[in-house]
Amino acid sequence: MDHFLYKDGVLHAEDVSVADIAASVGTPFYAYSTATLTRHFQLFEDALSGLDHLICFAMKSNSNQAIIAHMAALGAGMDVVSGGEYLRAKAAGVPGEKIVFSGIGKTEAEMRLALEGGIRQFNVESEPEMERLSRVATSLGVAAPITVRVNPDVDAKTHEKIATGRKEDKFGIPIARAREVYALAASLPGLEVIGIDVHIGSQLTELEPFETAYTKVADLTAQLRADGHEISRLDLGGGLGIPYERSNSAPPLPIEYGEVIKRTVGHLGCEIEIEPGRLISGNAGILVASTIYVKHGEGRDFLILDAAMNDLIRPAMYGAYHDIIPVVEAAPGAEQSPYDIVGPVCESGDTFAKQRNLPPVGEGDLIAFRSAGAYGAVMSSEYNTRPLIPEVLVHGDQFAVIRARPSFDDMINRDTLPEWM
Ligand code: LLP
Repeated sequence: MDHFLYKDGVLHAEDVSVADIAASVGTPFYAYSTATLTRHFQLFEDALSGLDHLICFAMKSNSNQAIIAHMAALGAGMDVVSGGEYLRAKAAGVPGEKIVFSGIGKTEAEMRLALEGGIRQFNVESEPEMERLSRVATSLGVAAPITVRVNPDVDAKTHEKIATGRKEDKFGIPIARAREVYALAASLPGLEVIGIDVHIGSQLTELEPFETAYTKVADLTAQLRADGHEISRLDLGGGLGIPYERSNSAPPLPIEYGEVIKRTVGHLGCEIEIEPGRLISGNAGILVASTIYVKHGEGRDFLILDAAMNDLIRPAMYGAYHDIIPVVEAAPGAEQSPYDIVGPVCESGDTFAKQRNLPPVGEGDLIAFRSAGAYGAVMSSEYNTRPLIPEVLVHGDQFAVIRARPSFDDMINRDTLPEWM
């Protein structure tokens, strides 16, 4: 459930008319609902109740300062994957002891930054990374808390580009080699082994891959403890999917996911971490665009919007489906017809949807893409010198711009000419 509903025939974000936001900030823009973020976080809190746990928001899904500050105020930790995300989390007031550092390519500078600024744990993904972290921590005279990310060789049954837990994927250490890698960790100075990490992919719509992976992690916990390692924390990753296509999909609920966690690893006495991103932020955001033209093509009509693939890349990149709805509700009984919904960028891939049924749309009409709060704004670019679009946060009957649209001068002046020109 989210807080984007029609009221008096106009789409609202909580109690604010989306048309009013459009009139104030111009299109295209992203709008987020605070109440939806809170609700989704709370669903995970409820799902893990009774377990010692920390929900670390995967801020790669939405890293606006206002969003992560809100998540932090709810009590969330952060899952970061770069020095930049680490600094963003700190800037939003997240204490180091609630920041988990994930990712396969942490640099020495990033390790130093986190060790100096405070870190809950590094999720280490390879032996070379482990050796480098050992050196960096030793040089600073500290011990780096680590888990090792294991690759359980489980098919998450999701899109090829966002599956991460099969043996051919670049992530983690093959679970079969985990014992030798933990032995290496224990032998290196400057590392403190505290647990195990696993993340098998994103937009999972079934629980069974989680169940299989977490069962393997439980078995590994027992083995590693028998080998003498202190395993007191399990980071179970993110990945629970959301219903992009409302008409025909109902992924498992957080409460059901929580039951899988309790059933598979709940008896181990470990502190449980999860790293959800999409389920918290995805349905808490919409992308709003205006129709520039309706073009009648050969046998099809094109809706040409002022939003493009640079603003929301998911359809072009993953063939992802987003519900697309008019901001002003159609008159009851209005006939629907199919449109190809496209952006103005000069490539055919700049297509959001093909032959999507909508009620009649005319120039200037506002269109909303649902489920755009995760991996939307964060993956946008300035391709075609299109400015990054504003982000707006709604809270009850108030809204605020939380990232302004840059001016063309801002964009152009970021470039500099070399002195020989
Ligand atoms: N933890 C780790 C280590 C991850 O790599 C990810 C996502 C998450 C947590 C959060 O997963 P979530 O709960 O959001 O599914 N850009 C793609 C999604 C990429 C996901 C990358 N890793 C998309 O738009 O679908």
